[in-house]
Amino acid sequence: MARILVTGGAGFIGANFVRYTIDNLPQHEITVLDALTYAGNRANLEGVEDRIRFVEGSIVDEAVLEPLVRECDVVVHFAAESHNDNSLEDPFPFIETNLIGTFRILQAVRKFDKRLHHISTDEVYGDLALDDPGKFTEATPYNPSSPYSASKAGSDMLVRAWARSFGIHMTISNCSNNYGPYQHVEKFIPRQITNVLAGATPKLYGEGLNVRDWIHVDDHNSAVHAIVENGRSGETYLIGADGELNNRQVIEMILEMLGKNAGDYERVRDRAGHDLRYAIDYSKLRDELGWKPRFTGFADGLRQTIDWYAAHEGWWRPQKEATEAKYRKSGQ
Ligand code: NAD
Ligand code: DAU
Repeated sequence: MARILVTGGAGFIGANFVRYTIDNLPQHEITVLDALTYAGNRANLEGVEDRIRFVEGSIVDEAVLEPLVRECDVVVHFAAESHNDNSLEDPFPFIETNLIGTFRILQAVRKFDKRLHHISTDEVYGDLALDDPGKFTEATPYNPSSPYSASKAGSDMLVRAWARSFGIHMTISNCSNNYGPYQHVEKFIPRQITNVLAGATPKLYGEGLNVRDWIHVDDHNSAVHAIVENGRSGETYLIGADGELNNRQVIEMILEMLGKNAGDYERVRDRAGHDLRYAIDYSKLRDELGWKPRFTGFADGLRQTIDWYAAHEGWWRPQKEATEAKYRKSGQ
């Protein structure tokens, strides 16, 4: 049994992590620390609230953070500003939460000698050419493109420095693009699903040839548990599920699954600095820890995700109008 402090546990991946843990590893005790920003939602934890302790507060605030770190065995650190488009409009919250927030966590785990698992992203490696036969590995040099990915790259570097200079016990994982229930409607897949459900036209950035390597959120979280339980201290593990598809393919699948014509989308202004392709080689995780993804058919996982959004309009409706108003302002 471990006492796990989950930062960002009311967000998309963090809330799914809490649910996954309660369903599969109920011996663990969970405390969630979440600032409930626009992306955090208590409703993401509906039905499991009586199984966890929920604390509303920021990881930047030492007075809130320190007692929670002192009382836990391991911190699983999801809390972040997570959306690239937002980081292009206003980078400051990304610097504050992703860099200063991670710094505060590092100081606290160092002070109380606790274990840290830091959740990061494949975007720290920049992008690959569309015709590059290679994939990212743990040895790929960092080369982030956006304020978001640069702030995550910086947070990874802080974690590594605290391990080398102060001997903290840590692991890092860098995962590819997640999909599944409870993902905010600002993100690509839920935005397009809810556009169709709301009678609006899906929006494709630029030519739509950019490739993302999709993984179901439950596979991300089972990998995080494998690393927390058996990963070697000081190591980084890439997480992926062989899910490479370009955005045009994904938008067409969504339209067809919802009974529309595959071409019923609109092309809008491209993202500035738009990364071309992400692709993950997860052989270290597979070979060292025996982990493998469970959702190997993207189409099945996507269909389940579409069904979830169709059945949970009350969850996504309140976010939808404000999100689309933001996109209208930026011409997207
Ligand atoms: P999200 O935006 O859905 O959730 C982030 C959560 O963090 C929200 O609940 C928010 O309220 C909380 N938060 C933000 N600032 C905070 C602060 N200062 N203090 C406490 N809580 C705060 O993000 P997500 O998609 O669930 O991503 C979670 C983590 O996984 C992030 O670290 C992200 O970089 C990483 N990641 C995401 C993906 C993906 O595809 N979504 C892939 C790889 C890695
Ligand atoms: O790779 C991991 C990263 O994946 C995580 O670190 C980020 O937190 C997460 O948001 C995600 O980043 P992306 O920028 O890849 O995800 P997003 O959902 O914003 O966009 C996916 C792709 O779809 C990207 O190429 C941009 C494109 N897109 C996005 C939106 C919102 C569109 O074509 N239309 C859209 O409306």
